Amino acid sequence: MSDGEVEQLNRRWAIDGQARFEPGGGGLTRLAIHAAQATAHVYLHGAHVTAWQPTDHAPVLWLSSASRFEASKPIRGGVPICFPWFGPKPDDPDAPAHGLARTRTWNVSGVHVTADDEVVATFETRLQAFILTYTVTVGRTLTMSLHVLNESPHPQRFEAALHTYLTVGDIRQARVTGLEGTTFIDKVDGGRRKTQPNEPVLFTQETDRVYLDTDSACVLHDPVLLRRIVVDKSGSRSTVVWNPWIAKAARMDDFGDHEWPGMCCIETACVADNAVHLSPGADHAVNAVLSVQRS
Ligand code: BG6
Repeated sequence: MSDGEVEQLNRRWAIDGQARFEPGGGGLTRLAIHAAQATAHVYLHGAHVTAWQPTDHAPVLWLSSASRFEASKPIRGGVPICFPWFGPKPDDPDAPAHGLARTRTWNVSGVHVTADDEVVATFETRLQAFILTYTVTVGRTLTMSLHVLNESPHPQRFEAALHTYLTVGDIRQARVTGLEGTTFIDKVDGGRRKTQPNEPVLFTQETDRVYLDTDSACVLHDPVLLRRIVVDKSGSRSTVVWNPWIAKAARMDDFGDHEWPGMCCIETACVADNAVHLSPGADHAVNAVLSVQRS
């Protein structure tokens, strides 16, 4: 995007001292938000939130130092939007993993400040049969809401995930609560279906799990950074938990080899059995709300 185009966005949407478009990584355009109680960055590339930091807290979202910031690649970290499929496309192994939304440039459709001094930014794109509207609300909490409308005359099925990368002090000491007793697809064990015991999720190896039929909020307990991150949600019946561990991190060229202990993905998702079916004209919203508490 040229300097002139960024200036045009600012003339239309900038809010003095609180929201301004600027060149970010790789020169890609991002919205820099300084709300009363938090800062954040959102790239137009993928409508990708890459940073959120409430005042008096350390950064909450993880972003790889090896991330590419290129128009054809997803950003590694923050909150990529996976849509309209999750993982590989079943009928097309050459299609990009996690769909098309995270590598396209979204349009801005609104920036405003609420009575509570939160900054709300809205982005839109049309993708296949769908109109997507993504609303990011930055304040003491970070709310991300993906609204999907089937604008076609045919029924449509989609998968979606707000693929949230959280910063953690040391994944080997962290635990995730909120998924006790639920069924999950274990992607590191041939896709076998298993039941989470009545215990937190602990991390001792590569972990890649799709938890099904769960509406619950999850909590990432971090005894190193002395905090809890709560991922609350609605319109989402699956939760994906992922850490690549040593070998997979080394295989990914946009993920630093030694960065894996510092991140944990808790993804607010509608995938596999919980994919969404929309009749013509119908809509659905997937919402994630992040908050952080000292422990
Ligand atoms: C997770 C998947 O959600 O995303 C993993 O469950 C995958 O299987 C990971 O490896 C990262 O995917 P990508 O396409 O961003 O490398």
